[in-house]
Amino acid sequence: MTYEHLDEEARQILRDNDRGSYTVPTSGLYPYQWNWDSAFAAWGFSTFDNNRAWVELETLFASQWEDGMVPHIIFHRQVPEYFPGPDVWGVEHTPPTSGISQPPIAATMARAVYESDKAAGRARLEGLYEGLLNWHRWFMRARVTDGLCCVTHPWESGRDNAPDWDSSMANVDTSMVGEYTRRDTSHVNNDMRPTKQQYDQYLALLYFSRDCGWDIDTINEKSPLRVADPGMHFMLLRAHRDLLWIAQEFGKPDGAEIQGWIDSMVESAEKFWNADGGYYDSINMRAGEFTNTLSCASFYCWYAGMDDTRMIPHLERILAAVKYPVPSIDPEAPGFDHIRYWRGPLWCMANSQIGAGLAEMGHTELAEKVRLGTRAVIADHGFAEYHSPVDGTPAGGQHFTWTAAVWLTFASPQAKGGF
Ligand code: DGY
Repeated sequence: MTYEHLDEEARQILRDNDRGSYTVPTSGLYPYQWNWDSAFAAWGFSTFDNNRAWVELETLFASQWEDGMVPHIIFHRQVPEYFPGPDVWGVEHTPPTSGISQPPIAATMARAVYESDKAAGRARLEGLYEGLLNWHRWFMRARVTDGLCCVTHPWESGRDNAPDWDSSMANVDTSMVGEYTRRDTSHVNNDMRPTKQQYDQYLALLYFSRDCGWDIDTINEKSPLRVADPGMHFMLLRAHRDLLWIAQEFGKPDGAEIQGWIDSMVESAEKFWNADGGYYDSINMRAGEFTNTLSCASFYCWYAGMDDTRMIPHLERILAAVKYPVPSIDPEAPGFDHIRYWRGPLWCMANSQIGAGLAEMGHTELAEKVRLGTRAVIADHGFAEYHSPVDGTPAGGQHFTWTAAVWLTFASPQAKGGF
């Protein structure tokens, strides 16, 4: 089978979702710039338009807050069909932004873009360096507690309705949320999205942090949700390694500081190990308890550069149980739902991180399984936001930026297959 038409389709998706200086994840459902979606978009653009890849990252960092945070959404224009929009977030910033961050993968993607054409990228990457460093410093100050990277809102993790947040969300008071109209379910079937109760909880948490004036210390002390997330931890650890590489490439003086972060996060990663279940697990920091969730984030250990074989048997078992890799939740877990967002579906961009990490750590056979399975699900079922691992049903938004980007960088036979 030849896949060249899919290479062209993927490039066309990136062009169609390009709004000039940033790329929307998909039109309609997500009409603004999202942080980690943009980082994937840059990686995708680097395969055919290197300049456009840099523009994507430069636009993202142009909206960095003074304290170093890079927001999860940048509202470049008014789009009434999205909720919750800038008026709900109440952030004083031009352009308006949300008040939380998202998985910090930009350093990893910036390095990948640079390595695809060093001559063209030298000045561009050097121009981004201080912004990247300040964002990583912000994470270490604002989100890392006891050496563990935590989230204060499920949206920050990128895995919005994962079961990892359930025990904390049960303590979120939604009585003041009131009436509102969701917009996501006018674009996508209800059964593919978070529930009404979860949406109430997302809004209650948003209002809580907004009413704290987005003050980091108050939120850290008082928010009902503070969950240490292996996904965020491993992505930040990986990004620190790439940031260190960039610092060395440009002879920057920050190497010792970044190396210190890496060493401490490697050491503390073991705290995520749930010995009863035998897997990396999230920790509800308010209760001091594991959340008992084996998710795709548990498999990010290799992407983080951890030489760890303990998760291999889980991955083998799970891949044998589904048609396409890698379900976001263990299919044997209670509540597994093959099309509901982060409670079962596979996400091609997560596959690229898991697959690339496996390859880097020398698990070539499993890496190839993940890569070929990603190729198959896109070839069979298109460029959806996410898919059923059971039968490939395309779910969520269609014509999706990060799925197209991952095709071009990871899944296509023409792709490099990693970073
Ligand atoms: C959404 O709109 O559902 C996003 O996931 C929030 O970031």
